[in-house]
Amino acid sequence: MNKEVDINELLKELSLSEKIGQLQQLASQFYIKDSEGELTGPLKDLGISEEKIWVSGSVLGVKDAEEARRIQDKYLDKSSTKIPLLFMADIIHGYRTIFPIPLAIGCTWNLNNAVLCGQVSAKEAALSGVHVTFSPMVDLVRDPRWGRVMESTGEDTYLNSVFGKAFVEGYQGDLSSNYNIASCVKHFAAYGAVEAGREYNTVDLSDRQLKEYYLPSYESSIDEGAKMVMTSFNTIHGVPASGSKYLMRDILRDNFQFDGVVISDWGAVGELQVHGVAADDEEVAEKAISAGVDVEMMTSCYINNLENLVKEGRVQEELIDEAVLRILQLKKDLGLFSDPYRGMDGDKAKQMFLCNEHKEAVRKVARESIVLLKNENVLPLSKDKKVAVIGPKGDSTDLLGGWSWQGRKEKITTLKENLIEGIGNNLISYAEGCDINGHDESGFEEAVNVAKEADVVILALGESSEMSGEGGSRAYIGLPGVQEKLAEEILRLNKPTVVLLFSGRPLEITNLSEKAPAIIEAWFPGTEGGAAITEVLYGDFNPSGRLTMSFPYATGQIPVYYNCYNTGRPKTSNTAETRYVSQFIDIPNEPLYPFGYGLSYTQFQYKDFTLSSDKMTKDDKIIASVTVKNIGDRKGTETVQFYIRDLVGSTVRPVKELKGFKRIELEAQEESKVEFVITEEMLRYYNIDSELVSEPGDFHAMVGSNSADTYTKKFTLL
Ligand code: NOJ
Repeated sequence: MNKEVDINELLKELSLSEKIGQLQQLASQFYIKDSEGELTGPLKDLGISEEKIWVSGSVLGVKDAEEARRIQDKYLDKSSTKIPLLFMADIIHGYRTIFPIPLAIGCTWNLNNAVLCGQVSAKEAALSGVHVTFSPMVDLVRDPRWGRVMESTGEDTYLNSVFGKAFVEGYQGDLSSNYNIASCVKHFAAYGAVEAGREYNTVDLSDRQLKEYYLPSYESSIDEGAKMVMTSFNTIHGVPASGSKYLMRDILRDNFQFDGVVISDWGAVGELQVHGVAADDEEVAEKAISAGVDVEMMTSCYINNLENLVKEGRVQEELIDEAVLRILQLKKDLGLFSDPYRGMDGDKAKQMFLCNEHKEAVRKVARESIVLLKNENVLPLSKDKKVAVIGPKGDSTDLLGGWSWQGRKEKITTLKENLIEGIGNNLISYAEGCDINGHDESGFEEAVNVAKEADVVILALGESSEMSGEGGSRAYIGLPGVQEKLAEEILRLNKPTVVLLFSGRPLEITNLSEKAPAIIEAWFPGTEGGAAITEVLYGDFNPSGRLTMSFPYATGQIPVYYNCYNTGRPKTSNTAETRYVSQFIDIPNEPLYPFGYGLSYTQFQYKDFTLSSDKMTKDDKIIASVTVKNIGDRKGTETVQFYIRDLVGSTVRPVKELKGFKRIELEAQEESKVEFVITEEMLRYYNIDSELVSEPGDFHAMVGSNSADTYTKKFTLL
């Protein structure tokens, strides 16, 4: 039946105002209460008349399958077109069963985890009436002050590209199953580069930076088949992204050949006026549709103005037709013309929510996302020791992180509860010490006393969920409130102490890292976070997470990232004593913990790094191989990282670029040979003429366990 819908024919049957309706997205509350006759609340705020909600094409954020069904029912009854509504929502790292935040998923360096997150999220969401998720967010991020770094997989172009692909694969599959949903990649483009990490702020990037670092992750998600793209709030080259022809027509449509739907971010079309590139709503609508926004989310410039603009000849109706056809195509691809209630099944959804299979999936990913930052003979803990859990995160259910609006905190087992379950009530004591962000130190004394009685202390510290995510920029990215003071009091006892951090961003923890013998970054680990952390603490799981975003030494160093340019005066061991080199006079240039870094309870030795040849033509390949040996006494997983540097180019080249990685699990004393294939394609970049080409010359191939610890071999591209 679906095949029978001819969307071109359907388009012909629509009036202009019905077509424009398809371009409007409204939040679900517009449909929940029937506002018949009375323009109150959100309807009034948006300045649209009531009949417009019955021609609008899509809905944002339905609560559950029942609500989606009710809205669809009523819409089909009242709408003149009878074209089913599309339901979209932010399903970012799980629907009800919540995975670790995307930044943490990145730290697993395991693409299967992103596929798994996509699949589990899609299933729960589809059963709850969602057709499209506003994910993945593939913005490259270098500034941990920005709260939204939690939604990205980090600071690396290549890693973000492969993770973006994996998320899309997980959500969409081939869309033929009702358990899959369409994916909307965002925020196009370069939202991660907002100045000073301040939310909704300006981005001003060179075209080179944009193309080389920021765009590839959107492109790869599109190549994987992402059905939608969301614009970003920021400006780029002086033009708001939601009004940028360059971004949407030249890059997205012409270069990337994207033929899916472009949606604005929430209110971003209306904001063209606030940015100061349009004088009124009419001009806003004219600019946004011309630039290439198909769907306007939550402002009403299109629906109130496009009809007149067409009549006045300021907007060609063909532009509207093209946008509508893309939306109808998506509705068709999702099978909505055959079944407007696609997937919606509240009872089945309830069976899936937090079911054992999904909980096991989120626990697996959580385990792998935990990064061991420091360990001076404290970890793993032995199960017969008395443990004091100290700190505001120790007995907290705030483990889900931002963008988990369908998660249920009340279903969370806290770290303390998990420890009691696994180790026994008699061995675990607890004191909160202080809260997350307050200044009250009156709990310190009790905390110190509890710690004194124990053999080992776990200091569970960090941020609350609201401190990152949208609107969560912070200027000081240390531990909030008096937590660091609490930590110092406890560390003064000189007990074996593990600092366990929960955060949506890399934190500034330089002082703590000097004083604490062990540090674990657990991020916001999701529904099964407490259990996963317990496994890591006691060595039932050997930590394998590796950072995908540098931990700054100090906030004043930001942005600090591994794939930077060399500068004309780099600081090296030879120039370290000189003043006139590129450096700070008060802190090192290097981050506290670099990209790719993370420890294990075992150790890995790298040896016999060789290249199959030291030269290649453009048609050749070179095989880089290295032997990695687990030289410790327990099984562990190493992420072998492969980097390249182009030594001389027609423009400057980064000092290192990740080109591949392999996760290998090795038994104690086991070794394995790992290979990477160097191809000419890997060596391409946007040269001085902005062409994506490789340039003959010398390169360094580097392999190692993190971006700051690599072995190097030289080769030449002939
Ligand atoms: C604003 C956010 O920037 C975007 O990521 C999100 O998808 C939309 N709101 C919809 O909730």
